[in-house]
Amino acid sequence: MSVVVVIGGQWGDEGKGRIVDLLARKARVVARYSAGNNAGHTIINELGEFKLHLIPAGIFHEDKTSVIGNGVAVDPEILLGELDQLQSRGIDTSRLVLSERAQVIMPWHRELDRLDEAHRGGAAIGTTGRGVGPCFVDKVARRGIRVADLVRSEALAERVDEVLDIQNRIITGVYGGDPLDAADIKDAYGRFGKQLFRFVGDAQAVVLDAHLRGEVVLLEGAQGSLLDLDHGTYPFVTSSVPSSSSSGAALGVGIGPTDISRVIGVFKSYCTRVGNGPFPTELFDATAERLRDHGKEFGRGEYGTTTGRPRRIGWLDAVAAQHTARVNGLQSIALTRLDVLDGLETIKICTGYGLNGKILDRVPVLLSALESVTPVYEELPGWRTPTSDVRDFDALPQQARSFIKRVETLLGCPVDLISVGPAREQAVVVSPIL
Ligand code: IMP
Ligand code: MG
Repeated sequence: MSVVVVIGGQWGDEGKGRIVDLLARKARVVARYSAGNNAGHTIINELGEFKLHLIPAGIFHEDKTSVIGNGVAVDPEILLGELDQLQSRGIDTSRLVLSERAQVIMPWHRELDRLDEAHRGGAAIGTTGRGVGPCFVDKVARRGIRVADLVRSEALAERVDEVLDIQNRIITGVYGGDPLDAADIKDAYGRFGKQLFRFVGDAQAVVLDAHLRGEVVLLEGAQGSLLDLDHGTYPFVTSSVPSSSSSGAALGVGIGPTDISRVIGVFKSYCTRVGNGPFPTELFDATAERLRDHGKEFGRGEYGTTTGRPRRIGWLDAVAAQHTARVNGLQSIALTRLDVLDGLETIKICTGYGLNGKILDRVPVLLSALESVTPVYEELPGWRTPTSDVRDFDALPQQARSFIKRVETLLGCPVDLISVGPAREQAVVVSPIL
């Protein structure tokens, strides 16, 4: 029996979708447990390249069930678009189960996301603008609309009547925006509900039954721990509660914490961040350009899957990574995009934060402190030979092996899997995770 959680160790975009796609072979169920279509996963397999925001990466594997758990915020229009994209390319989507308890992103959520960001001006968070934050606010404010309501047009109409008045007052009164029309929304969302009805089910039971039958359940994280509402770089974080810590995974599909048997942290071999907020190891030089545009011609550069924004780039931050490892109780690391570092003269890892003449080994809580730290770097020699065709740890260049060993020591956790390219087979299994 095992429930395995795959979590992003940095600011998202670590390559979780790719790792889940690789591990999914051994799983029966693959479930998303948090966030919404702010997430973006790129998966490249023998069927081509896919960008998914809501549907778990397990969908490409026949006879696996894909679950969108209660912890996810679902934009029905986006979900229907993804289903279309997959169906039109011959992928069987009948094994998707959408939780009745999941929250629905409504038009006012997208509008409020936009208006609130504009209102923040220079202090904007740099959200993906998908309405995910306002949707989670309403979940907690007990004003949310759930999938169970969406797919029953009478319940939907009732809920829209209950909540739209207050939403319109906020939109017009607080932000000076234009009110939304109830009839239009009931009409459009009623149609979405009808189209999604056949996918809706008891997602919690699907996860639990598979687990009790002794099958592997993979819980696919979205974003990264440094964007976590509690443990991230608040307020420059996302709004799922808690989006990325491993106990949030149990909550987001409806199982107990003791059901989780393994927690895998996915880290890039360097760091990226989209959106605003502190990033101690951020680079602004030619190295940043080089890392960002590596593989750009194949659509593999560091540009956001959801928004297309260029990602900010920096060296691997072991102080932040240690924080992630502790917060999530990581037992295993998947290190991605090692090949992007190929050919660099030297590679740096941040092992401390300098602040006011002291060296910190922990991430400071105060935003102003985190914004003013100076990274303390350890320099390691780079390697000349390409790694993208390597499949055995021992066949990696010696400098690459030293880099990986150093990451293990700094994080106090074994690196069990390394990815050296976007294709499913471009991976080095150091030690089998499942
Ligand atoms: P929101 O989740 O759209 O509210 O955005 C809040 C912050 O999280 C912004 O900095 C976004 O860029 C970031 N963010 C949200 N989803 C992702 C993701 O999937 N990858 C990377 N960053 C993300
Ligand atoms: Mg992403």
